[in-house]
Amino acid sequence: KQGGVVILGIFAADTSYKAKRLPHIAETLMGSEFTLGPGGKGSNQAIAAAKAGGKATFISRVGNDPFGDMALAAYASAGVKANVMRMEGVSTGAAFIFVNEDNGDNAIIVVPGAAGLIGIEDVEANRADIENAAIFMTQLEQPLEAALHGLAIAKAAGVTTVFNPAPARAIPEELYALSDFIVPNEIEAAELVDHAIETDEQARAAGEMLLQRGAGAAIITLGDRGALYHAHGQSEFIPAYSAGKVVDTTGAGDAFLGGFATALSEGQTPVDAVRFGCATAAIAVTRPGTAPSMPSRTEIDAVLQSV
Ligand code: RIB
Ligand code: NA
Repeated sequence: KQGGVVILGIFAADTSYKAKRLPHIAETLMGSEFTLGPGGKGSNQAIAAAKAGGKATFISRVGNDPFGDMALAAYASAGVKANVMRMEGVSTGAAFIFVNEDNGDNAIIVVPGAAGLIGIEDVEANRADIENAAIFMTQLEQPLEAALHGLAIAKAAGVTTVFNPAPARAIPEELYALSDFIVPNEIEAAELVDHAIETDEQARAAGEMLLQRGAGAAIITLGDRGALYHAHGQSEFIPAYSAGKVVDTTGAGDAFLGGFATALSEGQTPVDAVRFGCATAAIAVTRPGTAPSMPSRTEIDAVLQSV
């Protein structure tokens, strides 16, 4: 399969606000920093994959407005092949992001706009690229039926599938068996298995449930604790790397997924690919923003070699 990493998902312009805390209803709160830049989980993952050295194709929709221009400019500069439809009369996706100025924690409201209209027809229009991919990856910010259809086409063609069930929501049972790798963070995993993920045992139990439901392997990302790789006959915690002071954890999961998918597409073992994803995320969190903080291959290799 020569097609590299093919990703279906949304673009959103990230408007990011740093402050001490979220405002209360009817309160005006002074913040300390604003950034505007490309975001959206699928889009971030595609840019991360390309910057990490992978061949990346992104399937989405944007509007014919300045945020849509921002999206296309980001793909051109990162080297992502953009299979992105521009629509009239509907705005490009946008996200409100609160970043805690003390510890980099975040909270997000995302409106998918044009990408909220992605459907089965978008997947069909890109069938050849999906069937030719080494890796097909998607999330849950665009309508669920598109994710399901993309994963089904990829799986039937023998393409390795990576499913990121984000943001957290309940999902139909059939999605598990379509996922060679299911990759939630601890909050998304908790939503899927209906128990909190605080201890290693709880993470392992969640991983096991995801396998029982039909996933090929489960990877639960655990923030600054790294990630759990849980497959049949193999269960391993991979520690996080540190690449400097954490300023913004927004998009850390996307950095992980982009790096992971690129490493897998190169034929690295899943555990090595998890390490590669952790190194990618470790660098991204030391910089503000999501897509603009994705590291180059040289930077990732330097972190991997530093330990
Ligand atoms: O995962 C981070 C992303 O989620 C942000 O870029 C924001 O756009 C939301 O989609
Ligand atoms: Na960042």
